[in-house]
Amino acid sequence: MALFKLPFTNKDTKKIHNSYDKVPDHIAIIMDGNGRWAQKKGLPRIAGHREGMDNIKRIVKIANTYNVKILTLYAFSTENWKRPSTEIDFLMKLPIDFLQHYLPELIEENVRIQTIGEIDDLPINTQTAILRAIENTSHNTGLILNIAINYGSKFEIVQSIKSICNDILQGEYKVDDITEETITEHLYTSHLTDPDLLIRTSGELRLSNFLLWQSAYSELWFTDTFWPDFDEEEFEKAINDYQKRKRRYGGI
Ligand code: IPE
Ligand code: IPE
Ligand code: MG
Repeated sequence: MALFKLPFTNKDTKKIHNSYDKVPDHIAIIMDGNGRWAQKKGLPRIAGHREGMDNIKRIVKIANTYNVKILTLYAFSTENWKRPSTEIDFLMKLPIDFLQHYLPELIEENVRIQTIGEIDDLPINTQTAILRAIENTSHNTGLILNIAINYGSKFEIVQSIKSICNDILQGEYKVDDITEETITEHLYTSHLTDPDLLIRTSGELRLSNFLLWQSAYSELWFTDTFWPDFDEEEFEKAINDYQKRKRRYGGI
């Protein structure tokens, strides 16, 4: 049964869309390669970041078409503060720009915006734009667009441990009561399911401190394509590959 009309046509479309039952609920993407995309074109790195920002809209649209429930996008890591201040300043302004341009459209598409990461440490106008978007979309019931910004998995786990220690000191539970769920419940992602499919663009084969706990059993998918060029066809290819995977979780 066709659940929705497909706007894209390529030679694989028929094959891919025969199977709707195994679309990943949660897709997480390490949107890498903006700088190299620009460099290749003889442009400054920031041109790649702008193009990368525009690409988010395209991927949100197709994820929505596929009925994906959660799309987590890695936008800025806790390690990205090591970059030159001019690039950081530009990256901090991007969410403001993005939301100014696309928020009405995202609302129309029933997208709900959320974030993971230390939002409090972002410049105040970036925080304001993000919080406004979260608030204005909080009643939407469609795709959760979860932006990882100033996000680092190790920091997140440390925070989780500190919070658990505090609970214990308050007498809420004992050390022996700690389980995997206790850790999970203290992460930024406590309200979300783990990523089913984790995609990284730009040819790098690493996680770069992204969702280390949550991706324990995620299916990984890598492409050499730089993020600004990652289009609907590649997104479909990732889903198609995912659909062929057998997730065993240690079983047989
Ligand atoms: C990803 O692109 C965006 C961020 C990390 C903010 P990069 O800026 O890392 O681009 P490359 O990897 O240098 O090409
Ligand atoms: C990972 O990309 C972070 C984001 C995409 C936001 P990086 O470009 O920072 O990763 P490394 O430094 O190559 O590992
Ligand atoms: Mg990079």
